[in-house]
Amino acid sequence: MENFIFQAPTKVYFGKNQIQHLPKILREHGRKVLLVYGGGSIKHNGIYETIQSLLADEFQIVELAGVEPNPRVDTVRRGVALCRQHGVEVILAVGGGSTIDCAKAVAGGAFYEGDPWDFTQDGSVIKRALPLVTILTLAATGSEMNWGGVLTNLETKEKLGFRNPLLIPQASILDPTYTFSVPAYQTSAGSADILSHLMEQYFDRTSGTQILDYMAEGLMRTVIENLPVALAEPTNYEARGNLMWASSWALNSLIRSGKAGVWSCHPMEHELSAYYDITHGVGLAIITPRWMKHVLNGETLPYFVRYGKNVWHLTGSDEEIAHHAIQKTYEFFLSLNIPMTLPEVGIGSEKLQEMAQQAVKHSEISTKAFVPLQANDVFAIFEASLEPMVF
Ligand code: NZQ
Ligand code: ZN
Repeated sequence: MENFIFQAPTKVYFGKNQIQHLPKILREHGRKVLLVYGGGSIKHNGIYETIQSLLADEFQIVELAGVEPNPRVDTVRRGVALCRQHGVEVILAVGGGSTIDCAKAVAGGAFYEGDPWDFTQDGSVIKRALPLVTILTLAATGSEMNWGGVLTNLETKEKLGFRNPLLIPQASILDPTYTFSVPAYQTSAGSADILSHLMEQYFDRTSGTQILDYMAEGLMRTVIENLPVALAEPTNYEARGNLMWASSWALNSLIRSGKAGVWSCHPMEHELSAYYDITHGVGLAIITPRWMKHVLNGETLPYFVRYGKNVWHLTGSDEEIAHHAIQKTYEFFLSLNIPMTLPEVGIGSEKLQEMAQQAVKHSEISTKAFVPLQANDVFAIFEASLEPMVF
């Protein structure tokens, strides 16, 4: 295990009706609030109304509405302007990862002289940020408890991450009932994202990380067992609660601290999203089993055997377990009725070469990944994603 400093400073209010604490939480930071939300789901499921009734008397609320899935840097610029115009003191983000990521960039942008897109080149230019409070409505990204975000620039076809410890939410309200209204498609995509976060950190060559790997396996099993329940019974509180808490722990740096490698599937997926604006979790579900097949070799076999045994409870020879584990992963995603080939999300072969080169350019996938991947490897994984997998 590598040396690390671990800190997860977000104060989490988990459970039913924890929103009652919202006025007290915000009051610690100020009375002028920028309320950030997406395309309107919070108006349909009643959260917006609850917030208004809790805050209306005491707080001055300015709204940044319409944050897009795969949030655009233009929306961040709009938010920054609102903060300056109204002297905003605290940001309240209500939604999924896109809304929270956008709010993070606004929080940093409020005190930054340049353009917020700069954060994707170097997050350390953020020297000061507005405090951020989140109300999570979709179990997926872990943004509610971490220091990162992802922005999209449609003009340049780029989707890039940014991070800075100043952007970690001060407090996050995690009420599983707020995810009851998440449609099956987004529920599945969100869980595929959680699983991918776990796998990206689990398939790593740092030695002596048993504690991290066992935790990752437990979290993967939690998602695999609870997702089908949440899909069959969208208002099952325990299933939604398990998914929600798994989302936070999959990506709040706990299971990453002490590991040295970099991610593989996310850099590839971010190019798909940047070029075709697809749903992040669906892109990951498509790529992950193809990536597994591509990187399985004599050297990586033990990692897949461990995964097959501990996550999928498989038995047999090492080769059988490894191959079966990849098949199980694919079939699990397939069972969710989400697209599992690129053409199903509107992606053909035209831009695969270009996107493969960009994936290598925008990340360290070619040098530090679990199995370093060059542009031709990424292209092969994209190409394999054009057709259903055969086992
Ligand atoms: O916009 P609204 O109307 O709110 O609808 C959203 C959106 O259409 C809807 N939704 C959210 N909560 C709902 C709901 N619909 C009904 N009921 C609810 N309770 O779901 C749709 C997707 O929302 P979005 O926020 O885009 O999803 P997600 O949480 O998966 O976030 C995806 C974004 O996060 C980035 C992704 O790249 C993508 O841009 N990521 C952020 C990370 C981070 N900050 O650490 C890490 C991830 O790997 C990821 O890259
Ligand atoms: Zn992700």
